Amino acid sequence: MRDLMTDPARLDPIETASRDEIAALQLARLKWSLTHAWENIPAMRAKFEAHGVHPSDLRRLEDIRLFPFTVKDDLRATYPFGMFAVPREQVIRLHASSGTTGKPTVVGYTRNDLDTWSGLMARSLRAAGARPGDVVHVAYGYGLFTGGFGAHYGAERLGCTVVPVSGGMTPRQVTLIEDFGATVICATPSYMLSILDEYRARGLDPARSPLRTSMFGGEPWSNAMRTEIETAFDMHAIDCYGLSEVMGPGVAMECVETKDGPHLWEDHFYPEIIDPDTGAVLPDGAVGELVLTSLTKEALPIIRYRTRDLTRLLPGTARSMRRIEKIAARSDDMIILRGVNLFPSQIEEQILALPGLAPHWQIELARKGRMDTLTVVAETVAGMDEAARADLASRLQKRVKQGMGISITARLGPPGSAPRSEGKAKRVLDLRPRG
Ligand code: DLL
Repeated sequence: MRDLMTDPARLDPIETASRDEIAALQLARLKWSLTHAWENIPAMRAKFEAHGVHPSDLRRLEDIRLFPFTVKDDLRATYPFGMFAVPREQVIRLHASSGTTGKPTVVGYTRNDLDTWSGLMARSLRAAGARPGDVVHVAYGYGLFTGGFGAHYGAERLGCTVVPVSGGMTPRQVTLIEDFGATVICATPSYMLSILDEYRARGLDPARSPLRTSMFGGEPWSNAMRTEIETAFDMHAIDCYGLSEVMGPGVAMECVETKDGPHLWEDHFYPEIIDPDTGAVLPDGAVGELVLTSLTKEALPIIRYRTRDLTRLLPGTARSMRRIEKIAARSDDMIILRGVNLFPSQIEEQILALPGLAPHWQIELARKGRMDTLTVVAETVAGMDEAARADLASRLQKRVKQGMGISITARLGPPGSAPRSEGKAKRVLDLRPRG
């Protein structure tokens, strides 16, 4: 893999500023953001008042914990535009969550917000090792999802040649990567695996592709999957974190030189980690739910947003801003199977540890009598017969039993039999009767 370390002279000065400088900037911006929300969003002012707090109560950064949390339902309750702090005419872009259940969550951006987002995505792409002049292939979906447009504007800002392919039509993705000489790819990691399949199906060696680095995110992915993608393509696989309510992709980004978890762009977002059950703020280093407050957003200032993402805050390495540990799980993704708590990502680790299994998988939850059952649906690599598959299935069952203490069934099919993703992978299919 090529060494893509960033020349420190090319970084934004705040990326290497002292902790004191960062904290001073955060305090000034936090005061602005709280006041902006209080003055311009009636629903937020009512919340603050019910909580007995006023923006002037914030004197130190830690005082943020005096303020109430915001949750997804607060955005739903004010659907569609009730959380905007500027007149709708100043909102020049809308995005929204998919809203498969209930109302979608609508987010808006002023011109300055889009400018900030583009700048942070340019900074994020640079952290991944992208440079002006790179050809950036954007395979995130374009539309209400923030992935496509976020990457697009960031890559343009950095001075790259952007290929706005969006997700889907996988054969065309491979053709364009090869013909246009893409050096950087932005995609969900699960979709990258579909692109990898297509390379192999065509008899092309992915290691000879022009790709050198990437920006993968939008869903959890393990370090085992990182190794799989990096080895196959001989490129860097870099983690990008974000969520639409807080901005979109580019809230935090891993650096190619260290690959040790995304650096949170603390000049624009203030992070806290809380105990998801009690709401108590935890010290740096402790695992809990990530809570984020925007410091500069105009259209949709967001105060203490409960992300549901589980991680911990770590000191800065390649940059002075703190890191979050690579996010493996959301608190609402936890499966409780016969009393044992588990996260889908733990199953992924077991699958990828077994040579012969492909990285495409899904969990099926069902009920037999009174018992919940978990079936791992996965597939083997090419060139395996039924007997070899049955042997691998029983090895996977044993591994999961030994490593995680639960009995599961593994259903392994031939290559191509497990579900594929064109965006965010659906990892859990819950077939249990409701109620
Ligand atoms: O997924 C924004 C995004 C697009 C981020 C492309 C990175 C790349 P939402 O659709 O609002 O926004 O979903 C946000 O996705 O709360 C996490 O649970 C999950 N997520 C996003 N990035 C990562 C990541 C976009 N790198 C939700 N690792 C978040 C783990 C991630 N989970």
